[in-house]
Amino acid sequence: MKICFASLTENAVTWQSPALVLDLRPEQVHVWKANLDEFKDSCDCLSKDEELRAARLKSPVKSARFRAARAVLRVLLAAYTHQSPQDIRFIYGARGKPCLQPEPGAPVLEFNLSHCGNLLLAAFSAQAPVGIDLELIQPMEQRASIIRQYFTANDWDAYRAMPAEQQNRAFLRAWTSREAVGKADGAGFAFGSEMDFFTMQVCDPSAAEYHRFVGLDDFWLLSFSPQSGSIAALAVKSAAQPQVSFFEIASSDNLIGFSRSQGLKMQTIHPFSGYMKERTPAISWK
Ligand SMILES: CC(C)(COP(=O)(O)OP(=O)(O)OC[C@H]1O[C@@H](n2cnc3c(N)ncnc32)[C@H](O)[C@@H]1OP(=O)(O)O)[C@@H](O)C(=O)NCCC(=O)NCCS
Repeated sequence: MKICFASLTENAVTWQSPALVLDLRPEQVHVWKANLDEFKDSCDCLSKDEELRAARLKSPVKSARFRAARAVLRVLLAAYTHQSPQDIRFIYGARGKPCLQPEPGAPVLEFNLSHCGNLLLAAFSAQAPVGIDLELIQPMEQRASIIRQYFTANDWDAYRAMPAEQQNRAFLRAWTSREAVGKADGAGFAFGSEMDFFTMQVCDPSAAEYHRFVGLDDFWLLSFSPQSGSIAALAVKSAAQPQVSFFEIASSDNLIGFSRSQGLKMQTIHPFSGYMKERTPAISWK
């Protein structure tokens, strides 16, 4: 198996403000980025259990960011599903993966999120299960013992064969990749213990945005840098290669209007804070 990390760089991604009309077609994945500290005053749509979770967090900053993350998630889910943010109902998988309460006859909207510091990433897909993970780039002192304990013997060999200056970034890439795949599956970090994350094969590192897992045909994995000093991975459980678009949501954005007929349509026009108080307008069908 070839070790490819030496030639890989994080894919540069261009973040767009939400366009006037967005479609989320079955083959697409939307990745959203938000600065949680911008949304601290927009959190009046949380459920009681979310407020209780926030209250249990000892750090006021972490509590505020958890509330902001749930508020942004609710607003985005509301935009995709044509509901009010406060009407979103979550159910949780056996290992804690939040999903939407299924509605009879409605298409499934898959999503996942990760937050680290003030940065939130959220991924949405009309069909394929998605997982996303984010880490800040900082030295991890326990790298070697973590790799020996949680990664394969192949990964350990690959790690040791790398130049020292590449090891930290390679570790964070492998870590976020494994978390993302586990989150797409729903099992979390317990998933994928037999997979080689340091030795993923890439056909053409300079051109390929997607790295197909060796021995795990169902997943597509994209490693990228959402902003300077951070690294993220998106996993999509899909037979077909997904198309990924990246959007940045600001507190001044308001998301209204959707369609779930052939895909999902979304518009952003008014201030985000205004949206929180209004019902979503009528569906605009494609
Ligand atoms: C899910 C998991 C990978 C989270 O990783 P993390 O780096 O700590 O946190 P992230 O910010 O990346 O992700 C957290 C978000 O993932 C989502 N999430 C939680 N459990 C999830 C799961 N099993 N699968 C997918 N997503 C999950 C939640 O939305 C959560 O954010 P929120 O609670 O604020 O809404 C990790 O906790 C895990 O493996 N959980 C599985 C259950 C388990 O084994 N728990 C024991 C942990 S020691």
